[in-house]
Amino acid sequence: MMTPKTPSDSLTIMTDMVLPSETNPIGNMFGGELLARMDRAASIAARRHSRRIVATVSVNNVAFSKKIPLGSVVTIEAKVSRAFKSSMEVFMDVWIEDRESGERQKSNEGIYTFVAVDEMGEPVNVPSLIPESKIEKQRYKAALRRRQLSLVIAEKMNPLEATELVALFTGK
Ligand SMILES: CC(C)(COP(=O)(O)OP(=O)(O)OC[C@H]1O[C@@H](n2cnc3c(N)ncnc32)[C@H](O)[C@@H]1OP(=O)(O)O)[C@@H](O)C(=O)NCCC(=O)NCCS
Repeated sequence: MMTPKTPSDSLTIMTDMVLPSETNPIGNMFGGELLARMDRAASIAARRHSRRIVATVSVNNVAFSKKIPLGSVVTIEAKVSRAFKSSMEVFMDVWIEDRESGERQKSNEGIYTFVAVDEMGEPVNVPSLIPESKIEKQRYKAALRRRQLSLVIAEKMNPLEATELVALFTGK
């Protein structure tokens, strides 16, 4: 049996700034650029958890709630929030830093899912995850609901078998 890991074992912090070629016509960071940076950070976190080759299997949610202006210093903090059999959910918090005060402001969140694979690209088992902090426990619990939603949308799960979703909608 594989030794369980904690979210801290996979913590990945990526800091970089926004250059002119990475902005849209009104001078804010291009969404696809942020998605790519998040994919990179999250894949490193999934690799740290599994110590395997990992492939992005789904982008569950990214909310572009705040603009990220040209020149911003952007920090992505990624941690595995739950591990299933071969798949891992990675939760990311994105921060921007005020140029003058250095104060950090939360700009985005993102949730990606990765699958650990062998050299032939076949899924392989990963260690389980033991959440520690309050927020890690909340994200761990909600990850099952997100997994079921993602699988139902991908038509890989019968909605009636999505127990967490059924409970969410029916209260049962
Ligand atoms: C990832 C990949 C190996 C999975 O292969 P597969 O035949 O779909 O394997 P499975 O159906 O057994 O799924 C493997 C795991 O992924 C999970 N999964 C599959 N689709 C998913 C989805 N849409 N959302 C969440 N999880 C998903 C399954 O639940 C399973 O998890 P588990 O083992 O923890 O229970 C395969 O789909 C693949 O190679 N995809 C391309 C990946 C890639 O190139 N990514 C970069 C995009 S450019």
